[in-house]
Amino acid sequence: METKTEKKPVCPAGLRVGKSSAGLGLFATRAFKKGERIIEYFGREISKEEEYSSKSKYLFEVSNRKTIDGAERGNFARYINCACKPNCEPNVVRGKVWIDAIKSIKLGDELTYDYGEEYVNEHIKPFGCKCATCAAKAVK
Ligand SMILES: C[S@@+](CC[C@H](N)C(=O)[O-])C[C@H]1O[C@@H](n2cnc3c(N)ncnc32)[C@H](O)[C@@H]1O
Ligand SMILES: [Zn+2]
Repeated sequence: METKTEKKPVCPAGLRVGKSSAGLGLFATRAFKKGERIIEYFGREISKEEEYSSKSKYLFEVSNRKTIDGAERGNFARYINCACKPNCEPNVVRGKVWIDAIKSIKLGDELTYDYGEEYVNEHIKPFGCKCATCAAKAVK
């Protein structure tokens, strides 16, 4: 009998998943220049009803009419954590979400972007932001 084996997705070149202060995170295994396009954030398009009832941590509002759920394993951008002083930003180009470097990124740096006020107020602030800037403030 034939058994279906699901292929384990491979992390794109130049990136690795690793432990971060906020759970798992996505790290650079090479330097990226400011302005460089790093990775696409992709996922299944969901309906408005699903968006309102979903408990997924991976929803991304692409536009007023389109939200995606990036929970699938192949979407390695889903490991990128939120930071108050991020080194990346998401940009929507022709309906696709790209994560671009907004600073020069060194080998070993964790990639971060600002998830936006709504997500931060709902999912990050109630438990405390664990980004590097906030962690440094906490030990002062
Ligand atoms: C898209 S996931 C990011 C990857 C996640 N760290 C993991 O291990 O799968 C978003 C979730 O990560 C956590 N997270 C991301 N940035 C954070 C931050 N700055 N402080 C605290 N938690 C954060 C929150 O639980 C958030 O809902
Ligand atoms: Zn923070």
